[in-house]
Amino acid sequence: MTHAATMPKVARKAHSSGDANGQPSLGSVEARGDTRVVAPSTPRPDVRLTGHARGWLIAVAVLMGTLVGVGAWVRLLDAGLSIVVWQPVFGVLPPMTHAQWEALYDAYKRTPQYVQLAPTLDEFRTLFWPEYVHRVLGRLVFLALAAPLFSSSFRSKLGVSRARRMGLVATGVVFQGTVGWVMVASGLRDRPMVHPWLLAFHLGTATLLLLALTAELDPLRGHRAAFTRQVQAIGAAAFVVMLLGAAVAGLRAGVLYPTFPSFGGRWLPPEVAACEGLMCLQEGSAVHWAHRMAAYGVSAALLVVVGTIARTAPRSRAWALRTFAHLALQITLGAAVVLTNVSLPLAVLHQLNAVALVLTLAALARRAG
Ligand code: HEM
Repeated sequence: MTHAATMPKVARKAHSSGDANGQPSLGSVEARGDTRVVAPSTPRPDVRLTGHARGWLIAVAVLMGTLVGVGAWVRLLDAGLSIVVWQPVFGVLPPMTHAQWEALYDAYKRTPQYVQLAPTLDEFRTLFWPEYVHRVLGRLVFLALAAPLFSSSFRSKLGVSRARRMGLVATGVVFQGTVGWVMVASGLRDRPMVHPWLLAFHLGTATLLLLALTAELDPLRGHRAAFTRQVQAIGAAAFVVMLLGAAVAGLRAGVLYPTFPSFGGRWLPPEVAACEGLMCLQEGSAVHWAHRMAAYGVSAALLVVVGTIARTAPRSRAWALRTFAHLALQITLGAAVVLTNVSLPLAVLHQLNAVALVLTLAALARRAG
């Protein structure tokens, strides 16, 4: 006979109202004699995920990370503006017949990018495929995340609150796709360029979704460490550096200063000093300058904090050194990107490692000290 079967009826009800792992869910009913009492909603740390559920979350996170890398590759190939329609459901099938290719090509001919590049139908196909792969991967991420949530046995493995949060992340993936289309549409009107700050927003929301997923793999442990706030502040600053970087890419400003560490031998180029107010956000040289200077600031702050953690918090030393390794790689890649006039593979790695740096900083902030 099971433990639950030996309980009084009311208590059995209370027992089954808990989420996975037999823990009471928020506001669950508990039995005290004959009286049913609603327990106060006390937050509790989530139980660590194991087994298939953990494997699933890791697979979705890897798929999402791949999508971020493919996004950078598509942008650097100038392929993102090749598909001029948004068909979230039917767009999953690529053109099969010559007539279908012709129809897509004709629609593309009405865009400013066609006016600029005037590709042949064959050249158009080479622009089409990377963007197609990007969009199909986006749908796959959504399906991989959302489909298992329809199974009640899988939801019970996750626990009620975690399943709800994963449902929210799946909704976030739909939002992410919508932002992606708004961004593409911004490049189909006057100039063959997407709006640089929509590009930054698109990368920022992708990173937030990855942060939400990876936080589930590694929930907050115990008490805050002395360094938690500092690492959170540096993580937030690295996130802003990342957004500035995406805007540099969107403004095609990476090629403006092919020197490192200064800007053509100066630390404040005259055109940057001359720009004023919000206009600076559209000025490639100013955004490039701000991106690099903010990255130098983040590096200095992280060096100090990592040094302190290495001396005073031995249990978190390994994670602190990991963040340091990602930062060193990021600066090296940044320098290589400017010195090579934005080489495609280096720029893709620079984008991927930026996301990895932010995720590692978040993981460090979750350590207990
Ligand atoms: C904390 C450090 C840094 C972070 C988090 C970061 C992040 C990023 C991100 C996310 C992008 C957008 C990539 C893309 O869309 O292709 C970017 C672009 C760029 N970053 Fe960084 N970056 C950092 C440091 C640096 C440094 C130190 C340099 C230069 C020395 C640099 C130079 C560039 C350049 C030139 C681009 C534009 C590349 C392109 O046009 O595709 N970055 N950065």
